[in-house]
Amino acid sequence: MFSKSVTAALSSGSMIRAMFEQGAQLKAKYGADNVYDFALGNPDPEPDPEVIDDIRRLAAEPGIHKYMANAGFSDVRARVADYMKAQSGRAFTADDIVMVVGAAAGLSVTFHSLLDPGDEVIVLAPYFMEYNSYVGNQGGTVKPVKTLPDTFRPDIPAIRAAIGPRTKAIILNSPNNPSGAVYPEEDLLALRDALADAEAEFGTPVYVVSDEPYVKIVYDGVEVPSVARIFQNSIVVNSFSKSLALPGERIGYVAVNPDLPDKELLEAALIYSNRTLGFVNAPALFQKAIVDHLDRSVGLDAYRERRDMLYAIVTAAGFECLKPQGAFYLFPKCPIPDDKRFAEVALKHRTIVVAGSGFCYPGYFRLAYCVSKETILNSAEAFNKIYREFGT
Ligand SMILES: Cc1ncc(COP(=O)(O)O)c(C=O)c1O
Repeated sequence: MFSKSVTAALSSGSMIRAMFEQGAQLKAKYGADNVYDFALGNPDPEPDPEVIDDIRRLAAEPGIHKYMANAGFSDVRARVADYMKAQSGRAFTADDIVMVVGAAAGLSVTFHSLLDPGDEVIVLAPYFMEYNSYVGNQGGTVKPVKTLPDTFRPDIPAIRAAIGPRTKAIILNSPNNPSGAVYPEEDLLALRDALADAEAEFGTPVYVVSDEPYVKIVYDGVEVPSVARIFQNSIVVNSFSKSLALPGERIGYVAVNPDLPDKELLEAALIYSNRTLGFVNAPALFQKAIVDHLDRSVGLDAYRERRDMLYAIVTAAGFECLKPQGAFYLFPKCPIPDDKRFAEVALKHRTIVVAGSGFCYPGYFRLAYCVSKETILNSAEAFNKIYREFGT
């Protein structure tokens, strides 16, 4: 009666959401303080007071709530272009920027503009599996390629081998959800060579779609290399969900590389897609609210402290884990290969984790550490007990 594909998707569900539901049940039973819920990547700090002040002031500005051009306010697009130019050294202008309803919509608009049915998009596992929908909704299919174990760096020969005549794009997400890895410049340069090689073989470009909502959330002085600088055929998708802690307000942008061949056509396609997918335009108030805060990142010190605390706890318990350089997730190795069973055992200890299978990388589990310090500190005994359950 209803859509077959949607009803089928409903029954398979999202692992992250499933853990969220389980967490709610456990909290109802034992009290929130007695449950260690590391399931959801919901930014924890409140937005900065300066941003809140701007939101208040802007809400009363005459005319701000009206319809506008589908690409967004031209002054906002010009400021985002200046920011992208400073980051990448490429000559971005307002024409290269489309304001969108968060990165999720930005990716949907991008793939609606790029893909024909049957096209393939390479994704680097572990990855945010909502990509399957953003690509699948447009008739494309994702082709996962595993990153290297333990470092989660791209496996360039494996990527090259996965590219075929129908490969239209590759998604990069660095800093990465769920591994926290930041891909170093040398990997991106090697990837650029591999893509050039594949393009020569198949006679068609492979676009680099860079999903960057965590680009500002990095630690220990790590620099995230600019994808827009390195790759000419790149499309950057970014949002203010994490950097400004505004995930509920749905605001972001898509930036088309100014040196991408036929960029005018792609930009027209993005604007058309933004309109006809029903987004129409990004929220007016929040386009204006972010514009003076493009460089800001809220809560970085708190995230770093929590990363260090949780990393110390899980490694002291015995788990192997990469110390993440960015984002707000830890991705430790399970002591047994079956990560779903591991997540069930963790639940017995009132600890909610997401199995790596939920990111197409079994054998690991994700912990979102955007939770209170108390939750992290109180979880230490639970992690010790969980590890001991496996006799190691
Ligand atoms: C890797 C990744 N991409 C995209 C998104 C979607 O972000 P937004 O809130 O900007 O739509 C998320 C959200 O958690 C994410 O983790």
